[in-house]
Amino acid sequence: MGALALLLFLVLRLFAVQAGVGAGIVGDDGASCFTACLAAAGVRNVTTRGSPGYGAALGASIQNLRFAGAGAPKPAAVVAPASLEELRAAVRCARAAGLVVRLRSGGHSYEGLSYTTEDRSAFAVVDLAALDGVRVDASRGTAWVEAGATLGQLRPVPERVTAFAANRPGSAESVARLVSAWQRVAPRLPVELYVSAFVGAGLPESSNRTTAGVSVTFKGLYLGPSHEALRILAGI
Ligand SMILES: *[C@@H]1O[C@H](CO)[C@@H](O)[C@H](O)[C@H]1NC(C)=O
Ligand SMILES: *[C@@H]1O[C@H](CO)[C@@H](O)[C@H](O)[C@H]1NC(C)=O
Repeated sequence: MGALALLLFLVLRLFAVQAGVGAGIVGDDGASCFTACLAAAGVRNVTTRGSPGYGAALGASIQNLRFAGAGAPKPAAVVAPASLEELRAAVRCARAAGLVVRLRSGGHSYEGLSYTTEDRSAFAVVDLAALDGVRVDASRGTAWVEAGATLGQLRPVPERVTAFAANRPGSAESVARLVSAWQRVAPRLPVELYVSAFVGAGLPESSNRTTAGVSVTFKGLYLGPSHEALRILAGI
């Protein structure tokens, strides 16, 4: 008799959950509760799943395209607060709607921590792009930098900069030799010249995708004209 009661309870619960989905209470990931709360708080830059512009708002700064595909869990909404007050409201509304908050600054979390989730709980992306204030107090030697600020805002950038990418496919041994040389050279370059290295198979930067095996791509940014960058590179 006890077992029958338990079974009945489970069936009823299952029915209740399905009824919730049908009524849009559970099925919309709390998005309607979230957007109503945000609207009441005057937060306007909100894009919900399925609405126009959702893909653009979500994809604006996803750096690891593995998490941009259809298989990756997507947020119920992307909200971009325009002020600290709006940011507070976004966090409060997400909590009230039962949504986990994913905070995104520049989207450089290669693990996707700022725009997807592994445990499949309903979540919202709070994009901090508009909160990019930088205040420097030279007398105290302190700086206050908001999370949406990007590197270009933190460093004086000359009118002309040079960017380049060089891809070198090859055997694991030849790629390892190049990476080893980069490890020796890169730390000694002038601070105006930044060179990164990406190692992988079939990288999109590869100029010859038919090449099997691995490749290394060096990406460079020089804060100055190309002839200066070339002079430095030639002297290595
Ligand atoms: C909304 O926020 C995004 C950043 O997620 C920004 O690019 C866009 O310009 C904002 N739109 C408005 C109307 O402020
Ligand atoms: C790509 O690499 C393969 C193997 O080294 C070579 O046979 C082919 O000609 C290359 N293709 C181009 C467009 O460079």
